[in-house]
Amino acid sequence: MYPTSRPRRLRRNPALRRLVSETSVEPRHLVLPMFVREGLSEPAPIASMPGVVQHTRESLKKAAVDAVEAGVGGLMLFGVPAEHDASGSGATDPEGILNVALRDLSAELGDDTVLMADLCLDEFTDHGHCGVLDEDGNVDNDRTLQVYGEMAVVQAESGAHVVSPSGMMDGQVGVIRDSLDATGHADTSILAYSAKYASAFYGPFREAVDSQLQGDRKTYQQDPGNGREALREADLDLAEGADMVMVKPAMAYLDVLRDIAGVADVPVATYQVSGEYSMIEAAVANGWLERQRTVLEALTAMRRAGADTVLTYYAAEAARWLQEAR
Ligand code: PBG
Repeated sequence: MYPTSRPRRLRRNPALRRLVSETSVEPRHLVLPMFVREGLSEPAPIASMPGVVQHTRESLKKAAVDAVEAGVGGLMLFGVPAEHDASGSGATDPEGILNVALRDLSAELGDDTVLMADLCLDEFTDHGHCGVLDEDGNVDNDRTLQVYGEMAVVQAESGAHVVSPSGMMDGQVGVIRDSLDATGHADTSILAYSAKYASAFYGPFREAVDSQLQGDRKTYQQDPGNGREALREADLDLAEGADMVMVKPAMAYLDVLRDIAGVADVPVATYQVSGEYSMIEAAVANGWLERQRTVLEALTAMRRAGADTVLTYYAAEAARWLQEAR
């Protein structure tokens, strides 16, 4: 008598489906990336990311409080300076926009949320690379490390609970750990962008941070075809003291996420990047996809692949949907 096996039995009504559901997304799993721009008087829309803005210091505080009230697990802050220079000096200046905004949010929210800071130079340099350049115009790994070490200390002193190196320089986690420990910041955590690919999906982010980049990041970010290399990068970061590791982008790299989540003995994050957001928004605007279902399905898939934490521009909104659905 066929069929002998009837998996549909467990799908016949919502109560059964809820009972056997393997994967959940909760507001606390979601981290909201936010942009704050120096010298703005009104929030500035980012055309390629409808619904996402560059914040003023004031609008940032309000949006951060709203996101925390919605229950998100944390906030990841990116700064957009008014001036760029060769060394990205705004990054290490305590009066630089990212550090000022961290102090604002720290004063506003204290320990009510997890305050994270992007630790990278590309938003601050006039050439748009994630590090400083040598005489030949190549990104100088080891000189960049010194700057990252300083940047970590300023971010910690400005109130970041977690610093998040995203520049893919060799040795960055170790140098940052040493410099935090040497300056009394042993409690500050490191979320390492361990497997970060040279991806076309970062396109809209360039607009979001007014990136000055010419060329590409292929000498430091990973080749999209390389999977094993991601495990090596994660191993190195763990050996250097990473408290959490990340895979980025998310949806095109769920296999990498799965592999790393299978071996890492720390929490694993993934980042649904700007282009992933823009693709959904563009399709929704055309009436081709259902917004809420599409977003929640994408976030569920990232959790299923092994992400403990998902960074997503939908974090606050999705957290509200999830709260309402309870
Ligand atoms: C580097 C950084 C980037 C993103 C996060 N951190 C840009 C890049 O590496 O080119 C991309 C985030 C996104 O696309 O949403 N500071």
